[in-house]
Amino acid sequence: MAGAAASTGEGWSSRTAFVLAAVGSAVGLGNLVRFPAEAGANGGGAFVIFYIFCVCLIGLPILLSETLVGRHGQSSAIGSFKKVAKESGASGWWSIAAGVGMVGAFLILTYYSVLAGWIVHFIGIFIGDTINAIGANTLTNGALADRSVEDVQALLPALHANSTQMLLMHAIFMAITVYAVARGVTGGIEKVAVWLMPIFFLLIIVITIYGAFNGAFGAALAFLFEFHPSRLLDPSVQLSALGQALFSLSLGSALMITYGAYAARDINLAKTSVQIATADTSVAIIAGLAIFPIIFATLAPLSLQAILDGTEQVQGGLGLLFVSLPVAFQAMPGGSIIGLLFFIMVFFAALTSSVALLEASVSWATRRFNQPRWLVTIILGGTAFLIGGWASFSFNSQADFKPLDFIIFADQPVFGIIDELTAKILLPVSALLVAIFVGWVADRRLIDSENGLSGGMHRTWLFLVRWICPAVIAIILLTGLFPGLLE
Ligand code: TRP
Repeated sequence: MAGAAASTGEGWSSRTAFVLAAVGSAVGLGNLVRFPAEAGANGGGAFVIFYIFCVCLIGLPILLSETLVGRHGQSSAIGSFKKVAKESGASGWWSIAAGVGMVGAFLILTYYSVLAGWIVHFIGIFIGDTINAIGANTLTNGALADRSVEDVQALLPALHANSTQMLLMHAIFMAITVYAVARGVTGGIEKVAVWLMPIFFLLIIVITIYGAFNGAFGAALAFLFEFHPSRLLDPSVQLSALGQALFSLSLGSALMITYGAYAARDINLAKTSVQIATADTSVAIIAGLAIFPIIFATLAPLSLQAILDGTEQVQGGLGLLFVSLPVAFQAMPGGSIIGLLFFIMVFFAALTSSVALLEASVSWATRRFNQPRWLVTIILGGTAFLIGGWASFSFNSQADFKPLDFIIFADQPVFGIIDELTAKILLPVSALLVAIFVGWVADRRLIDSENGLSGGMHRTWLFLVRWICPAVIAIILLTGLFPGLLE
């Protein structure tokens, strides 16, 4: 069956293509870099449990809300919102929900591509290393055998010190993204997802099995699922988990509205929402189960125990992927090839997300300014490249430039500010407005005709969208932003 918006030549060619593209957008650096880093920084179990709570009670209902507004609206995120608002007799200003999200998606793209550029850089390192190992017939040994541990630990700092290289890798990644988006929904975005996502799933399974056999799997399980109840009540852990749940499902960023608009009428959106959320959450957890066993395997027993007890922290943040992991690959059998496969896997996940991040604003701007897709894509991609390039100086010359040194931005350079601003403010605000709009403002018959739900499931969904989502997001936003409120 042809895509829903066939009149404009835009639309998924099948239900599978829609699900793969949506899962491709959801599964990305958020699952593979941000989730393990946040789980590590927020004490493991407490964060993971609150994260799953947020996915089920907030993420899933909002995912359905966003896709249904898009499918009914058949336009860009903002256009779709306007149309549904108008048909419901409400103000077109509600489209601000999509506007905030679209700005969020665009800002995420700026730094996302910088990070993905680091992945490209590490793919290069591991390709060279694999070739060396093949030549020396040492493929079953650890990776990077010709370097000391200190040298491996210095790979990321060395990249940070080298602005030219960082900008070059960022440019390569952005160029690939622009190329795919410029080719259109069916001809570019869908193809990327349909080809890369199956390979991605194969790779992550191979790496997880490898980690289970060669790494400290039990310790990783304990770290991710044993929780310290006291941390569960910490508002900053809650805000992080909520932000991460929205970020990881690509919610509050106009995207699921945009992708929903390309979905055919006969697709059951409730069902696909469950599939998308399940796939994304599984990948986050599996990523944790792939990464932590490998990292924990190289830790001394005492410091591992301290991490499990919560008295010490995992080296969190980006160091997890770009420092701890390469060190671990150095010590593990077949490290070169596993390292190479690992970074290729992350690259595939990043690309299916970056095309979506760009599409959120491209789909709006092509209509708004009535310009050809390729031109709009190049202009928006180019602008995102420049902003991201500037943010990349946060890792060298502008590391001490912290223009907004307060609340969640405290001590953050530009790069971190964009991340915090999007995940902890823009995405939650957009999601909050979506929930209020779909729950209270939009015409009920219109909503009911799109959501594919009936009976008890329908009542549960409506209850979550009307009461739980707005209340929980509002409370978490306020207490997370203004920690003093609780005292
Ligand atoms: N979900 C993506 C990830 O986990 C990041 C993301 C957030 C995103 N909002 C988006 C991707 C909008 C595409 C579109 O990496």
